[in-house]
Amino acid sequence: MTNNPTKDHGNTPDCTSDQDWLDPVFLRTHFENKSILIGISGGIAVYKVCTIVSRLAQAGAQVTVAMTPAATKFVNPITFQALSGKPVYTSSWEHVESKDPQHISLADRCDAAMVVPCTMNTLANLVNGQTNDVVTLILSAVVREKVPVLLAPAMNDAMWNQPSTQRNVKLAEEDGFTLVGPGHGWQACRHTGTGRMSEPESCIQAIAQALGS
Ligand SMILES: Cc1cc2nc3c(=O)[nH]c(=O)nc-3n(C[C@H](O)[C@H](O)[C@H](O)COP(=O)(O)O)c2cc1C
Repeated sequence: MTNNPTKDHGNTPDCTSDQDWLDPVFLRTHFENKSILIGISGGIAVYKVCTIVSRLAQAGAQVTVAMTPAATKFVNPITFQALSGKPVYTSSWEHVESKDPQHISLADRCDAAMVVPCTMNTLANLVNGQTNDVVTLILSAVVREKVPVLLAPAMNDAMWNQPSTQRNVKLAEEDGFTLVGPGHGWQACRHTGTGRMSEPESCIQAIAQALGS
């Protein structure tokens, strides 16, 4: 543990470089015409994902947003629909497009995917092959040898330090997911500890690195 508020657990890139990873003009070189799937699970940090979706869309990416039912309690899907300019997927059973099965076509078309924030529960689902919501269902159909899938865990420090979470983090890394963060610092529960979601610019930089662009 460290007291450095910007210190990350995982592979979060160092955003101290001169590049502004929120500048849509700069981001164009990395993201123009790329299809990015953003899976959102139900943590307090969902509001930070608005910035990620907005900047990727401004940079010319095709951003598809999928949300777990819990995620929709934090920010209404209409916000992400407006920011991405595309329908938001909140249920496995509502087929927005005529092409079936929807989760397969969504998985097939993405160049990279990130679950952000990734809750303790969604992390557990992913490493156990559970597909009970539209986020984990789409990801179950992503061929991860070809398409990078990044996870940005975010949770209270006690949740992060649970043996089950730490086991699941290890499993996720062994399974080829790329962990981004979490960071250490102030948390919404008014604790200071490890479990903060990586900042939007770090998440965007990590996706760019994963794309190799
Ligand atoms: C106000 C509030 C904030 C929460 N924040 C988090 C969080 O930051 N991280 C987390 O792992 N769970 C958090 N939870 C718990 C999750 O919402 C809960 O485990 C939920 O079942 C997660 O579902 P999902 O993984 O399908 O989105 C929070 C719950 C509430 C009520």
